[in-house]
Amino acid sequence: MVPGMIPVKGKGVRTMSDRKFIYIGIAVLLIVVLYPFLHGMVASGDTTQPELYLPSDASECIEETEYMTANHMVLLNEWRDTAVREGIREYTSQSGEIIKISLTGTCISCHGRKDEFCARCHDYSNVTLSCWNCHVTPEGN
Ligand code: HEC
Ligand code: HEC
Ligand code: HEC
Repeated sequence: MVPGMIPVKGKGVRTMSDRKFIYIGIAVLLIVVLYPFLHGMVASGDTTQPELYLPSDASECIEETEYMTANHMVLLNEWRDTAVREGIREYTSQSGEIIKISLTGTCISCHGRKDEFCARCHDYSNVTLSCWNCHVTPEGN
């Protein structure tokens, strides 16, 4: 009996290096079997948000991007209420900038390609807006 050899009943002997190949084989098999799942996880992580058209002549929104992503609907509600109920037409941003309260005049002056911005994100999240029935915006700019 040579050291490093393991006797296997009825099948002669298997060396340590044979074992190594068996382990490598199992590892390869696992990767092949798990690949679609791993790949699916990575791929779905990539598509959490659709591609959005951003204005080319501005680099910042009226508030921080994170805040806008999470709270633009709340902000727009507040804008409507302050404008319609209180007659206040100006909004002061966190940075102290005075901004005109207007869905079309302000938001859409930057996000003019709303079909490739607002709508693209809303379609993805299954949100339908009725705003454009009344708030008329110029097409395609
Ligand atoms: C039935 C018609 C109608 C719909 C639908 C509508 N609005 Fe309005 N909205 C108005 C009118 C009328 C005013 C008052 C316009 C004014 O006083 O300048 C107004 C004012 C506003 C204002 C403040 C002034 C301005 O011009 O922006 C905001 C903000 C606003 N709406 C947001 C929205 C949002 C967001 C939606 C969709 C969720 C929406 N509105 C849907 C009719 C509508
Ligand atoms: C001065 C131009 C400008 C105005 C006005 C403006 N935006 Fe923006 N907005 C931007 C830019 C530029 C970005 C992208 C900022 C970035 O990449 O970090 C952005 C980002 C956003 C985002 C986040 C997008 C994302 O990737 O999650 C939302 C939502 C948004 N804006 C909605 C609005 C709404 C609603 C209004 C009106 C209340 C508005 N914006 C007014 C320029 C503007
Ligand atoms: C980054 C993705 C994203 C972008 C970009 C975006 N929205 Fe939204 N919006 C959402 C999501 C998600 C909701 C639903 C939120 C909820 O139900 O709590 C929503 C909800 C809204 C609502 C409330 C709708 C309702 O029925 O309650 C309004 C109004 C709105 N968005 C306006 C806009 C406008 C105007 C723009 C473009 C200037 C815009 N959004 C861009 C993701 C986005």
